[in-house]
Amino acid sequence: MSVKLLKYIVSNSCIRSRVHNMKYMSTVNNDKPIKVTFNKANGDKIIAEGKKGDSLLDVIINNNLDFDGYGACEGTLTCSTCHVILDSKDYDALPDKPSDEELDMLDLAYNLTDTSRLGCQIILEEKLDGLEVKVPATVNDARD
Ligand code: FES
Repeated sequence: MSVKLLKYIVSNSCIRSRVHNMKYMSTVNNDKPIKVTFNKANGDKIIAEGKKGDSLLDVIINNNLDFDGYGACEGTLTCSTCHVILDSKDYDALPDKPSDEELDMLDLAYNLTDTSRLGCQIILEEKLDGLEVKVPATVNDARD
């Protein structure tokens, strides 16, 4: 093996290693756990973790949480069973306001409040770490 070829291999290996490490660091930052507390109507408080980009529905599914009937349409904005209620401070802090489609679906939810949202439309980001939501006792599946 020539010295030139050996230098090329070592150089490329170092570059690949650095790129791999940068990707790893990026992945680690994106996967930083974001804590969410679900307060059920019966008084149960369930604390779960998600990651940036997860919806509240993803957090419930990925943690195998038992929320009867929750997320029936799997986030396709056709059921309203993922209704959650936030306090006004957290509601105002959400990065995205509800779309017209979400508002239409919320109109069909039981126990609607001024700070209601659909859990499948709340996307986690780091600043939402510690978010608390109330989960109403009853759900309305708008598809029925
Ligand atoms: S899961 Fe059906 S509207 Fe959110």
